[in-house]
Amino acid sequence: MDVLVVSNYEELSRRAAELVDEAIHKRPNLVLGLPTGSTPLGLYAHLVRRFQAGATSWAKVRTFNLDEYYPVRPQDPWSFRRYMEEHLFRHVDLKPEHIHFLDGQAPDPEAECRRYEEAIASVGGLGLVILGLGVNGHIGFNEPGTPWDSRTHLTTLSQETVTANFGAAPREADDFYPPRQALTMGIATIMEARQILLLVSGANKSRALGRAFNGPVTPSIPASILQRHPHLTVIADRAAVGIKAAGRALRA
Ligand code: GLP
Repeated sequence: MDVLVVSNYEELSRRAAELVDEAIHKRPNLVLGLPTGSTPLGLYAHLVRRFQAGATSWAKVRTFNLDEYYPVRPQDPWSFRRYMEEHLFRHVDLKPEHIHFLDGQAPDPEAECRRYEEAIASVGGLGLVILGLGVNGHIGFNEPGTPWDSRTHLTTLSQETVTANFGAAPREADDFYPPRQALTMGIATIMEARQILLLVSGANKSRALGRAFNGPVTPSIPASILQRHPHLTVIADRAAVGIKAAGRALRA
């Protein structure tokens, strides 16, 4: 595994964009697995800027997002589809038919998950999967306890995840009910990618980062399975690693 500890979020975003662009240059028809959340926002901004500067063409790239709330409408503010349109898809020359998403309105979620696995297989599997890290160590929406052999599935979100993503006091009084379920690529789906890039930023992630890489591989910390991936790159900022421990917090 390659570990890059960078000084701040801006550098993390820039280095990640360079790595992704390099992968697209090497393989123009790269199959990318894409995350949402606050961590990749800087990466997407850099990728858009690099595209606008003529650095990269996305014309042959295929994308598969990691997860989506369930149920959710594409126009809901928290829909990952909407997030991706706003931050990446509408700004680059990706072909609409090359964009793959789990349908948060699918009437039969199990069939939808099977369809997604088949779509991934039909393009020869995932090339580069980019991941963020949940505060409880989740990857995608694979919450603690998810089996290592899981494929794309419907999952129930932990209270910790709902709180992290929607705030401590969900506005149920205002008729807003945060989604409690999601569709997500499974751990086995993610681990079969040829390359994985994990992005970790901020002091609120340092506990999860330490538990993922300085301890045993255990389903109670889903990201710990990444220790076993043959081609993993971790880019973490110093706040996530813990300033005092920078340079020794991660075993390379
Ligand atoms: C969500 C997503 C994950 C993401 C995680 C961390 O729950 N399903 O894919 O990595 O949150 O998000 P953030 O980057 O906002 O901390």
